[in-house]
Amino acid sequence: MVVGFSSLFSAGSQGTLATLWRKLPQAKDSAMIRRDGHIPVLAEESLSLLEVHQGGRYLDATFGGGGHTRLLLEASPAARVEALDRDPSARERLKVLEQDFPGDRLGFHGMPFSRLDEVPGTFDGILFDLGVSSFQLDENARGFSFRKEAPLDMRMNPEEGLSAAEWLAQAGEGDLKRAFRDYGEERHWRRLTQMLLSMRPVDRPKTTLALAGLAEEVLPRPRGPRRIHPATKIFQGLRIAVNRELEEVAEALPKAFAKLNEGGRLVVISFHSLEDRIVKRQFKRFCGQPEHRGDSRPQQDRQVLAENITRKPVRPTAEERQTNPRSRSAILRAIRKTTP
Ligand SMILES: C[S@@+](CC[C@H](N)C(=O)[O-])C[C@H]1O[C@@H](n2cnc3c(N)ncnc32)[C@H](O)[C@@H]1O
Repeated sequence: MVVGFSSLFSAGSQGTLATLWRKLPQAKDSAMIRRDGHIPVLAEESLSLLEVHQGGRYLDATFGGGGHTRLLLEASPAARVEALDRDPSARERLKVLEQDFPGDRLGFHGMPFSRLDEVPGTFDGILFDLGVSSFQLDENARGFSFRKEAPLDMRMNPEEGLSAAEWLAQAGEGDLKRAFRDYGEERHWRRLTQMLLSMRPVDRPKTTLALAGLAEEVLPRPRGPRRIHPATKIFQGLRIAVNRELEEVAEALPKAFAKLNEGGRLVVISFHSLEDRIVKRQFKRFCGQPEHRGDSRPQQDRQVLAENITRKPVRPTAEERQTNPRSRSAILRAIRKTTP
């Protein structure tokens, strides 16, 4: 698992590897991490890159099951963590941490991370572990899974905005195209879009199985060794659209960067290429590098505000992928703020 691990990090982060080595066995075996069957993704790597220190202040922008927050609190007895999640049910899981870490080391903010500028103070490290949590995926009634019958909801915060069924009922051609083609990366998006547009809005799918059935009916059966259910990409695209996931990330990253102290670290774990592209470009901008191939602006027009501390994006080891299949597509990038 650890062979070649140090090559993942830049020279500037070598000091953190010692910390990582010390924490590794304890983190891997900790019953705490596996409480409720929840395993934080790239736990050791993110903790190491955040370089938790005595008295440091950290922001976990995606509290979820509190797995990373717990690791941050355990890493240093004097560290303080502000956690944030837009899902009201995260408060239930927060209670467990509040019991385990009494005092004022842990704060919580129920809000989308695009509003993290409203959290008071500045931070030595900020972590984003994007996407949905295993708690959300596993709770059938939330409507994220196409395998179990439930109202088609898919909202991370069921108290805000339109459910996926309501979104589908009012979606025009452009909305459906963006969700299925751009966010779902479904090649045959046109077929499902046409089918939905031919239906009266009130007749469009209202449950998970109704939408999954429609996808099965109109989309070709995927072929090849890694066959996925025809609804997989459709559900992914719809979820991203309903929760405005990409807009949230694009709005939050500059706000997070502004909240970092000098030397503070920003660590982001993404789960698909669309998210990762936003992170990669934004990080290049902070580091004063060309943001994409066509970016030919002269160097003097760029500002170097940060350094990249992951020479290559970090991915889960084969061992982690095996023990936690949900980590499979995770990709981590991190930067360190160099200017005040
Ligand atoms: C992958 S889980 C995080 C798991 C967490 N790191 C842990 O170890 O338990 C992502 C969490 O981020 C939350 N989330 C996703 N997008 C969000 C947003 N834009 N604003 C606030 N919370 C968000 C989700 O509700 C979910 O609980």
